[in-house]
Amino acid sequence: MRKINSEISGFYKLSIEERQKILSNYYDLSQDEIKLLQNFGCFKPNQLDSLIENVVGSYHLPMGIACNFKINNKDYLIPMVIEEPSVVAAASNAARFARRQGGFYSEKVKSVMFSQIQITQIKDIESTKNELLNHKNEIIEIANEQDPILNEIGGGAFDFKIRELETRKGKMLILHLLVDVLDAMGANVVNTMAEAVSSYIEGLCSGKIYLRIVSNLATQRIARCKATFNKDLLGGPDVIEGILYAYEFALADPYRATTHNKGIMNGIIALTLATGNDTRAIEAGAHAYASLSGTYKPLTNFDIDKDGNLMGEIEIPLALGIIGGMTKIHPMAKLALKILNVKSAEELSQIAAALGLAQNVGALRALASEGIQRGHMALHSRNVAKLAGVPDDLIEEVAKKLVEDNRIRVDYAKEILNDLLKKLR
Ligand code: MEV
Repeated sequence: MRKINSEISGFYKLSIEERQKILSNYYDLSQDEIKLLQNFGCFKPNQLDSLIENVVGSYHLPMGIACNFKINNKDYLIPMVIEEPSVVAAASNAARFARRQGGFYSEKVKSVMFSQIQITQIKDIESTKNELLNHKNEIIEIANEQDPILNEIGGGAFDFKIRELETRKGKMLILHLLVDVLDAMGANVVNTMAEAVSSYIEGLCSGKIYLRIVSNLATQRIARCKATFNKDLLGGPDVIEGILYAYEFALADPYRATTHNKGIMNGIIALTLATGNDTRAIEAGAHAYASLSGTYKPLTNFDIDKDGNLMGEIEIPLALGIIGGMTKIHPMAKLALKILNVKSAEELSQIAAALGLAQNVGALRALASEGIQRGHMALHSRNVAKLAGVPDDLIEEVAKKLVEDNRIRVDYAKEILNDLLKKLR
């Protein structure tokens, strides 16, 4: 390997091939490694190169399908892109338990996003507020001029709220420009609108505007979904009691609540990624929402119904779109949306909320009964067998033995392989 100089002038101007050559020289890439870089999957090289900067390849992940989902009386097969074993199976199982009781019920989800406009160095806060309110129509009109089509089809900017913030640099006014983004995720449109109205706003008040950017805490886009999970399918009263104890634990302890919510996000992010949506926005929004009370809390809640079944609910901000961004560019995202057969961003959010709830129940059920390692390890054992150099035709056999003996380790896989090879000789 050559000494690396990370300051590569004009790297961004090179073609993908040229960048690959640089990597190949630096790291002595083998033919197989070069082939990996050259495998663009479902993309054409020029598509990739126009998505991000300094592209050298394409990175693939498995896409699985979560089954058994009935949401608002409609059946869905849900594509999930995730690397973690057991997640798809757990969601499908929990959806089966809910299906027995009628499935998931997701409420309407508004498609309202907002950008924040930060007005600083204001001489007279009260008169600035009045000026802004007196010119609300003009501000909204300028915002809507940025996207006349959105406005024509029933969306667009429709209101704003003003918040006062006390900061170390003095009082600021933060204007939240509310926009109905319809079927888009909406960050682009609200950012464009916020930038467009800024100079007009600066002209109205004495202050200086710095930031003009979407808030990823999408509190105007909350998804709520409920379901009842059949007690017998879940494993009986003991398992349900365990789930309720797990829930109390999460309510009382942010350390546990974080992991509880991570389980929810296993499902929601897998769907977000599958549909080409912005996973970081969803993740950031979810965790901020979980902390809104001042303490980090679980995003779901649980109780039992009069027959002893488990009732679950989820409430989470979901800024998901079915147009814009990657949704119509990434061939697999397009395919995922086709499989989902959703007609609106709202419907996608309703599905995501149901999936998050199912994922949480699936994880809690495993934790409250056998633990999650068994399910996890069954799939993991195959990877361990591969890592140990087990040939394809022996992987199943070695993996099975690793799980049976509860020793899922590469060294043990090698030992099993050697024994098998001896027997075969
Ligand atoms: C693992 O990816 C997710 C869990 O840790 C979630 C949980 O603990 O609730 C199993």
